[in-house]
Amino acid sequence: MTQDHTLDVEGVTLGYGDRTVVTDLDLRVPPGRITAVVGANACGKSTMLRAMSRLLAPQSGRVLLDGKELHRLPTKDVARTLGLLPQTPIAPEGIVVADLVSRGRHPHQRMLTRWSAQDDAAVAAALNATDTAELADRVVDELSGGQRQRVWIAMALAQETDLLLLDEPTTYLDVSHQVEVLDLLTDLNAERGTTVVMVLHDLNLAARYADHLVAVRRGRLHVAGPPAEVLTAEVVEEVFGMRSHVMPDPVSGTPIVLPIGRHHAGQLAG
Ligand SMILES: Nc1ncnc2c1ncn2[C@@H]1O[C@H](COP(=O)(O)OP(=O)(O)O)[C@@H](O)[C@H]1O
Ligand SMILES: [Mg+2]
Repeated sequence: MTQDHTLDVEGVTLGYGDRTVVTDLDLRVPPGRITAVVGANACGKSTMLRAMSRLLAPQSGRVLLDGKELHRLPTKDVARTLGLLPQTPIAPEGIVVADLVSRGRHPHQRMLTRWSAQDDAAVAAALNATDTAELADRVVDELSGGQRQRVWIAMALAQETDLLLLDEPTTYLDVSHQVEVLDLLTDLNAERGTTVVMVLHDLNLAARYADHLVAVRRGRLHVAGPPAEVLTAEVVEEVFGMRSHVMPDPVSGTPIVLPIGRHHAGQLAG
């Protein structure tokens, strides 16, 4: 089992240049649980994840990993504990899948020790888990969007961190691969206790797979809590500016959100 690490965001304001994007964010990531972040395009979700993974320094406030200020910890120490799959990662030109996934092991390599059997095992496990083993010799640039996405997830898994932040891990994936990735993250969470924080656009999958749902509106945390409490028609309207009908998912009992839209508004039963 992994160690339960804490990741706390305290009064954080984030931006680019003099443009503020996230304002006064307080967020305590529940250790050993799965958190989903939802919100409209450009509300600041990716910016939040960047700050939570040390890529972006707060303009004010603090991000604390195990109580220590994240931006003061050495890069490699952070990378052994916390992995980030960015929304649009960029692969080195011409790199093949096996080599890219192997880079996930970089934080575990010491100065003079060579690649170990443990590194081999981690890479093989990550390729298998993401159904990408057969792509191992392919050039990453030449893969389909969905194949590439699974390869990036494999790289993040190979890093074997206790905390895993994923920015839209299911984007580009067909429905079966979306569910596969979320099932896989759930397995990691259940078997190793990995803490997962992910940005998802599919509210129904977010409600089904997350223990904790964080809804962001215009750079501020709007509401957070268990999906059944957070995901109401009222919140959907506030966060996405869209009318919807919310009902229990017949498969899981968690909320499902059915958008209404202009053309069907008159047809809603009840
Ligand atoms: N590197 C950047 N430089 C300047 N502005 C940025 C940068 N990245 C994002 N932004 C802006 O910050 C806002 C929030 O972006 P982002 O965090 O990517 O939103 P989300 O992930 O919720 O769609 C947007 O208005 C976007 O244009
Ligand atoms: Mg984003």
